[in-house]
Amino acid sequence: MVARVLQGVGVGALMVAALSLLLALNLNLGSFTPSPASAEISCSSSRRSPLTTVEEDALGRVKPSGDDYFGTAGEELINEMKADNMEKNLRYLTSQGHMAGTKQDLEQAEYLKKLWLEQGLDQVFLQPYTVQLSHPDLSKPNKDPLDGVDYDDSIPPAFLAFSPAGTIVTNELVYVNYGLYEDFEAVEAAGIKVKGRLVIAKFGQGFRGDKVQNAERFNASGIIIYTDPSDYHPDLEQGGAAYPNSFWLPESGIQRGSIVWHDGDPTTPLYPALVTTPPAAVTPPFNTATLPPSSNTETTPSSTVATPPATVATPLATVATPPATVATPPATVTPPSTTDGMYRVPDEQTDTPRIPAHTLSYNDARKLLVNIGGEEVPPAWRGGLNITYRMGPQLVRPGWTVKLEVHNIKHLVPTYNVIGVIHGSEEPDRYVIYGNHRDSWTFGSCDPSSATAVQMEMVRAYGQLLRNGWRPRRSMVFGSWGAGEYGFFGPWEWVEEYLKVFEMRAVAHLNVDLAIIGTYNMLISATPLLHKIIKEATKRTPAPDPSLGYTTLWEHWSQRLRAASPDLLDYNLASLSEHSPFYQHIGVPTSYMVWEINFEEYNWSDYPLYHTTYEDFDAILPMDPDDETVMLRKMVADLKAEYGDTLQEKGISLAHLDTVVNRFDEVAKTFITHVNNLTDVPLLLARQLNDQLLLLEKCYTNEAGSYLRPHVKNLMFGTSNFNQYEGWLAPGVRDALWEATHCQESCDHHWQVVQHQLSLLQYVINSAVLTMKDIRYI
Ligand SMILES: *[C@@H]1O[C@H](CO)[C@@H](O)[C@H](O)[C@H]1NC(C)=O
Ligand SMILES: *[C@@H]1O[C@H](CO)[C@@H](O)[C@H](O)[C@H]1NC(C)=O
Ligand SMILES: *[C@@H]1O[C@H](CO)[C@@H](O)[C@H](O)[C@H]1NC(C)=O
Ligand SMILES: *[C@@H]1O[C@H](CO)[C@@H](O)[C@H](O)[C@H]1NC(C)=O
Repeated sequence: MVARVLQGVGVGALMVAALSLLLALNLNLGSFTPSPASAEISCSSSRRSPLTTVEEDALGRVKPSGDDYFGTAGEELINEMKADNMEKNLRYLTSQGHMAGTKQDLEQAEYLKKLWLEQGLDQVFLQPYTVQLSHPDLSKPNKDPLDGVDYDDSIPPAFLAFSPAGTIVTNELVYVNYGLYEDFEAVEAAGIKVKGRLVIAKFGQGFRGDKVQNAERFNASGIIIYTDPSDYHPDLEQGGAAYPNSFWLPESGIQRGSIVWHDGDPTTPLYPALVTTPPAAVTPPFNTATLPPSSNTETTPSSTVATPPATVATPLATVATPPATVATPPATVTPPSTTDGMYRVPDEQTDTPRIPAHTLSYNDARKLLVNIGGEEVPPAWRGGLNITYRMGPQLVRPGWTVKLEVHNIKHLVPTYNVIGVIHGSEEPDRYVIYGNHRDSWTFGSCDPSSATAVQMEMVRAYGQLLRNGWRPRRSMVFGSWGAGEYGFFGPWEWVEEYLKVFEMRAVAHLNVDLAIIGTYNMLISATPLLHKIIKEATKRTPAPDPSLGYTTLWEHWSQRLRAASPDLLDYNLASLSEHSPFYQHIGVPTSYMVWEINFEEYNWSDYPLYHTTYEDFDAILPMDPDDETVMLRKMVADLKAEYGDTLQEKGISLAHLDTVVNRFDEVAKTFITHVNNLTDVPLLLARQLNDQLLLLEKCYTNEAGSYLRPHVKNLMFGTSNFNQYEGWLAPGVRDALWEATHCQESCDHHWQVVQHQLSLLQYVINSAVLTMKDIRYI
């Protein structure tokens, strides 16, 4: 595993170093290599990487190929980074499981702090928060009820974090395809009521938490989610190999993950889970020291096909008494629950799933699926198992039942962000934030430790540069986040605590959560203000595999048949990784990236290269407001394409939205012209212009938040309300439009909501206009 991940690290190292060179040297921005934390399959690739030809010199240092792109400090940085060190880092990080809230996680945090101080960062501290986490409990032995074979106690059981505990015994099971909203609609349209029934859905096509939420929306009693071979092992029935001999998931592989749909600690929504005296870290119920290195493939006992699926029990034990720290609902006489003075929302009021949910391998799911009766599913809904997929609800054999048993426990535990700071020489109060979560479900050799290994080596390299007298213009903040896997809890609490500071002073957030799903090509999502710098960075980065005929990373990225994204850069940040609080809550210009496999079924279309319309002064942020206009125009065009006719019918005009976008276009052009015309930029003027840029995207946040989702403060960049893996522009307007177009009766109110949301959208764009405009010309 380590060797394989290191292939990815090699690629990542080159990218990170090269990008950071450009950013640190010319622009003093920081560095990044972002990607989604949620790419569960990111570690399963065993293909020989085509991008492993990272050049190393005799000392094992990663070298850029080609010309001297980067100048002195940049060159120094890249020369300083050594592949061997990353390997050592990775071996250290993956030497034990480090699930959030555990002792091992805290040990790693303390180790990083010590290391970063030794390596020369100006300031390093642990920032604890006491958050509610959901853990499995193994105090009871794990038995497979089918054949009585023990689970290996050393392997943490598969579970869906934040599924409530619960038991369902039923003789009904409804197949709901991917569990998307429209899937549930189709099931009901086919005459099968979901209400009160247990459903089974495939993983894929969306965030697992949204499948659970959809099941709740349709009043299901519980949900089982499994990894169907059609998505996770397509050549299964043809005898195709699985991991570790191929990319594909083996029959016993089980996807873990969190199903909270509201990121951040559930007991302190929109305010930080502050702590003065952190409670003790939890000792996990499993012995992490004995975990085998390949524990991301489960060794669930196989059982014969003929075995009745009488019960499907989770390997989770019941907890007899809740731990003392669990928030109890306030009774009339009990004072409200607080921790260190912070009020804790009672459990039954938190915005977390209400129905039990559990995850299965396709081998286990097969035993359920072959026993579902009813009509055959539509052809498009069939999975990749060699069985007849049926809708349900009845099980085929009378008297048989399915039993779903979930015994997750919730408790308040400390999670630690490690914050390292390099003080900027000229603008120490302006922050470039560079983050990566540290916790993992098991060893996290790929997610996130491969990225942490790179982050550690880069911090060391920066420390070396500092010793040589270098210092960036602005402060660089390195964040190693706790409890990322649960729903980005560490960075959310941090952003909530520092909200006012970052609103004013955060320049950019670069997510280094390095998921190497494949090594074919990059997918990059970013808010528009970072598009320019990303393109420039890739143009100055050597191609990872020169044998493909590309000289620069830009050529590789833009010319190689691209993976899922038809656009070179998109705005689809979604809720994929730790970047979500930064852009959703404050509007900090944000970026993430993932290396992907070659999805040949996806089409590719070229992306017009933007002309960069102004020359950079070293002192002025490399952000192009024209890229913002491009995004705004796309946002309006998409709304018109999807809802233009409907809106017209309802007498709702988009003309005002057009007007304010046109106004933005104008002020952006004036700003650019003004900057281009400058021959000298005194410090205070640079500060003024930079402030206009760094506040621009923050104008999109609004205290009231998005319709239906008041915790989503960014009215421009957000997610689909039905799939948090899908980014939406103008999420509030889209939520309102969705409701209005799905409305059956007394719909006037819903169209008023649409109008209201459109007004708010116009309002935040107008705020951006005012920000880009020089006060003297208003
Ligand atoms: C679910 O139940 C709620 C409360 O009874 C009800 O208002 C809602 O219409 C139900 N949804 C569906 C899709 O049946
Ligand atoms: C699929 O199942 C059928 C019926 O059990 C069997 O005859 C057939 O050989 C199977 N196909 C494959 C590819 O395994
Ligand atoms: C890709 O696009 C081309 C040109 O638009 C089209 O001819 C082709 O059918 C598309 N391929 C797929 C797989 O969609
Ligand atoms: C450019 O700068 C010159 C000299 O400072 C000034 O006279 C001129 O009006 C400026 N042009 C624009 C378009 O701002």
